[in-house]
Amino acid sequence: MAKRWINDLTHSDVTPEKAFLNRRQILAGLGAGIGAGAAFGVAGQAHAQEALKPNKWDDITNYCNYYEFGTGKEDPARNAHTLTTEPWTVKIDGLVDNPGDYALGDILAKMTIEERIYRFRCVEAWSMVVPWNGFELADLLSMAGVKSDAKYVAFETVFRPEEMPGTRYQVLDWPYVEGLRLDEAMHPLTLMATGLYGKPLPNQNGAPLRLVVPWKYGFKSIKSILRITLTDTQPPTSWNKANAREYGFYSNVNPTVDHPRWSQASERPIGGGLFAGRKDTLMFNGYDEVASLYDGMDLAANF
Ligand code: MTE
Repeated sequence: MAKRWINDLTHSDVTPEKAFLNRRQILAGLGAGIGAGAAFGVAGQAHAQEALKPNKWDDITNYCNYYEFGTGKEDPARNAHTLTTEPWTVKIDGLVDNPGDYALGDILAKMTIEERIYRFRCVEAWSMVVPWNGFELADLLSMAGVKSDAKYVAFETVFRPEEMPGTRYQVLDWPYVEGLRLDEAMHPLTLMATGLYGKPLPNQNGAPLRLVVPWKYGFKSIKSILRITLTDTQPPTSWNKANAREYGFYSNVNPTVDHPRWSQASERPIGGGLFAGRKDTLMFNGYDEVASLYDGMDLAANF
């Protein structure tokens, strides 16, 4: 069922040292495709040959947004250990043929998982390269059997106040919720992540199961998913509910549409050190293959 993934990062990234020493090649390499765990492919006039270097484990696991454990970037790493992630059951309901409670262990037993998948992830004005492990959301939705009238997928994070100290504060309306259009959800790039670097997902990154949509900002990266509902109406998202003017439903990486309070034309790679500057952000994070999902849409209105 699950396919072997081809790594197809569209940004290049390198170690901080190389970023400093080989700045010119690196700039030339932006936009290059990445071969499976190997050297860069060649894009346009660029001929950079740099090994892909994902962010360090410590960067990825200590700089997080998971407001149920506090609003500071380092709060989740400090506080999320209190979340019980085993056993874990995902409820899949709504417009599906086989609604029910799916034990994560049973889901994983049906998938080829723990395949190393490199995905570029870009969040607001900062970015990381994260070696996620997981499986395609489409494979899970196929198990549940999507009915023909389904148009959207709604996601819900676990809500356990006794394990989630941040939920004492109404910074967001709990539980945290997200949504995708069905075609976005079924796209083979859309991933349910269960691990990082071949290890189980740390709680602060959304254990045991979180969404990764590589052409969208981090807001779609809903963590510790407990429920998935197929619907025919656009579902609410936590950030849109909190501030609709600043956060729309789509959350595509779109350098041409500014956030009301900052430009989205460039990003700051995390872990790049003092000398790593910002870099230009590519439309859809460079995943051109998703562009057709948005044909004919006004992406300034649907941000
Ligand atoms: N999921 C839940 N349940 N709660 C949250 O506060 N924050 C979102 C998203 N998923 C969030 C969440 C935001 S704003 C971002 S930027 C990403 O998670 C960050 O993912 P990371 O911490 O793994 O980098």
